[in-house]
Amino acid sequence: MDKKLIVANWKMLPNTLAEAQEILELVNDYLESIGEKKEFSLVFCPPFVFLEGVGRILKNSHLAHGSFLGAQDIAIDDGGALTGEVSGPMLRKLGVEYVIIGHSERRWKLAESDEMINKKLKSALRNELIPIVCIGEKSRDSSFKEFLEQQIETTFKDLSSDEIGKCIIAYEPVWAISTNPGAKPDTSANALESISIIREHLNLKFKIKNLKFLYGGSVNSQNISDFIKEKEINGVLVGGASVNKEEFVRVLRHIT
Ligand code: 13P
Repeated sequence: MDKKLIVANWKMLPNTLAEAQEILELVNDYLESIGEKKEFSLVFCPPFVFLEGVGRILKNSHLAHGSFLGAQDIAIDDGGALTGEVSGPMLRKLGVEYVIIGHSERRWKLAESDEMINKKLKSALRNELIPIVCIGEKSRDSSFKEFLEQQIETTFKDLSSDEIGKCIIAYEPVWAISTNPGAKPDTSANALESISIIREHLNLKFKIKNLKFLYGGSVNSQNISDFIKEKEINGVLVGGASVNKEEFVRVLRHIT
């Protein structure tokens, strides 16, 4: 069985590198305690300002084996005048290997356009970073299937099958994200249905079959087993529970 991929999207938390270190130390202690029995790989996606520090901590601990650094965003261009942005080459120099693209908080709260997301995806691929591409409907109403299909087409516009094959797709229904009003986790049955819709559409449009899928949206220690037990779900994208150090270790305990 392939190792499951657990991606910790810390969003705009924690507030200090010292707090980030505490999370990593607890995870490190847990990994040390289970030794070779680890059935997962980890990706930590801290805020930009902590990438260097977190990268250093990962390198100098047990986390060096099977833990990777991820960014939450990337600039559309590799250099030049783009105030406030962080480029792919900069991320590479910091040891970043993954980058989250098209997160719903960027799509809806920061009005990131489909065109921008598509450019960021191209930027990640150009810089040989593994894109974790977020796809998800705002509400599971009668048109959610069309919504997903439309989002796929704009997000992956003009990409080759080879390029799309390098992406990991995170199915993240917006309504299931813990900080959104009335949020509740999706059921694994719904998640599997959506993943199958996404897979079929990508196959129809771009002839791609073997993609890896994550589920994200209120994943915690109570529900992770429901998702991770499915062979079509290759891992999870965890928000809130990944910055609560005790809860994050409880999440990991369910995978080993
Ligand atoms: P929560 O796990 O807090 O619902 O966040 C999910 C998410 O947005 C991860 O990218």
